[in-house]
Amino acid sequence: MAEQTTALKNDAACGTKPAPPCTLVIFGAGGDLTKRLLMPSLYNLAGAGLLDPGFSILGVDHGEGTDESLRDNLTQTLEAFSKDPTSEFHADHIDQTSWGFIRERLHYLKGDFEKPETFEAVKQKVTGNAVFYCAVAARFFGTIVDGLGQAGLLRQEGDTFRRVVIEKPFGSDLASARELNARILKQGDESQFYRIDHFLGKETVQSIMAFRFANGLLEPVWRREYIDSIQITAAETVGVEERGGFYEPTGALRDMVPNHMFQLLCMVGMEPPNSFDAEAVRTEKAKLAEAVRPIPPEDAVRGQYTAGTSEGRDVPAYRDEPHVAKDSVTETYIALKLHIENWRWAGVPFYIRTGKRMTGRRTEIAVLFKPAPFKMFEDTPTADLGPTVMRILIDPDHGVSTEFNVKVPGPQMKIGRVRSGFRYKDFFADTPNVGYETLLYDCMTGDATLFQRADNIEAGWAAVDPLLKGWPQADVKIYPAGSTGPKEADELLARDGRHWLGLDGETD
Ligand code: BG6
Repeated sequence: MAEQTTALKNDAACGTKPAPPCTLVIFGAGGDLTKRLLMPSLYNLAGAGLLDPGFSILGVDHGEGTDESLRDNLTQTLEAFSKDPTSEFHADHIDQTSWGFIRERLHYLKGDFEKPETFEAVKQKVTGNAVFYCAVAARFFGTIVDGLGQAGLLRQEGDTFRRVVIEKPFGSDLASARELNARILKQGDESQFYRIDHFLGKETVQSIMAFRFANGLLEPVWRREYIDSIQITAAETVGVEERGGFYEPTGALRDMVPNHMFQLLCMVGMEPPNSFDAEAVRTEKAKLAEAVRPIPPEDAVRGQYTAGTSEGRDVPAYRDEPHVAKDSVTETYIALKLHIENWRWAGVPFYIRTGKRMTGRRTEIAVLFKPAPFKMFEDTPTADLGPTVMRILIDPDHGVSTEFNVKVPGPQMKIGRVRSGFRYKDFFADTPNVGYETLLYDCMTGDATLFQRADNIEAGWAAVDPLLKGWPQADVKIYPAGSTGPKEADELLARDGRHWLGLDGETD
């Protein structure tokens, strides 16, 4: 095993070739996303030798600045984040060769995203391949794409590529997502647009496809005949923090469900694609999302946290967070049940929950298998056998764990519950990763597998549309910060004779 592990580690470390030369134009160069995630990712890509010497970055933003001031600011923030335990970026020290590679390629342009002259100025500075990254508030996505298109910056000649990365949230409901898709597709071809969902940058999410389709053991039982139900959870301990302004009109449903949670749903529920070609994979994902029966309000519960205790300290109610209305009815938690109307999943409920200020941090997919066909152990003291549960652990643990029943050693046939599992870190070398490295690299190399196609996005919004339209806004249930969510969410499953798995990873 030791030898095999070493071989795997070596395989994982040895590399792919550098992405083709290109200019990465970042709209929103002064923003949080650029500092927290894009720069650390580029630094990691430079460290892995995956950027071409012809790579360069043009940061565009409203504020005054020069190439040198941008370089200094981003050097400071990179250093600060490397020491911040709450940041995604961990480094004992900044490697000057890797950062030097990025630093000397940074350039700044002051510009208003709403003015055509900004795009004319970008045009003067960009030749050849370019990736335009919209690291800005959602209201600017359409404006920036219009500006790029009207300036002729999205015209691709010969082998030259021009691509646009669009962050989430992509629309705020089905109608606005359709409108935004229609608007951007007037300026370029679908193949030029890379709609990001950072959950797809997580190694553990990407590996769900390998786990399902590279193991002959699983596929035969991955279906309604053997699976009782599936629970998809993204529980966070953090509150809304400083993001009240964004969160108030958004809420947990829009923030997490049609995007992140649906990505997990698609990964676990899609049919095997014919190949790992981007279109083949995205077609299967879109088919799955389109098969979700629109969710009626009675199959969902909205919650909002009140004051409580989180990770040992007193924390305020959502309504007392900065930039949040004192009478806010925005949900910070949502639980729902959905059905997939296809041959594989008919009749299998999928339960989804996500919330802030919950008792534990846990993102996972739990597959609960049906009980054994007859209860052979009926007369034993432990007649009530729990289901076999396979948990795909996404965050903060990375791995897979399975809970099942065994005989407790001793003269009686007593059944006990055990868990066996694997953790990525036990098998693979830990490569520095803040979650955007693969996404940036893939965009530069033209691999759209991990990006959302227009139909995929619209299918997600279509499924939750009845909730957005038909929900009495005031119907928000209260849960104390540091709890597992509102009791009404437990009742949602109790109605079906089921219960949520615990948030601590233990068998329930
Ligand atoms: C973001 C949401 O897209 O995802 C946040 O806007 C949420 O509200 C975050 O906290 C969760 O991502 P992760 O990677 O921390 O699980």
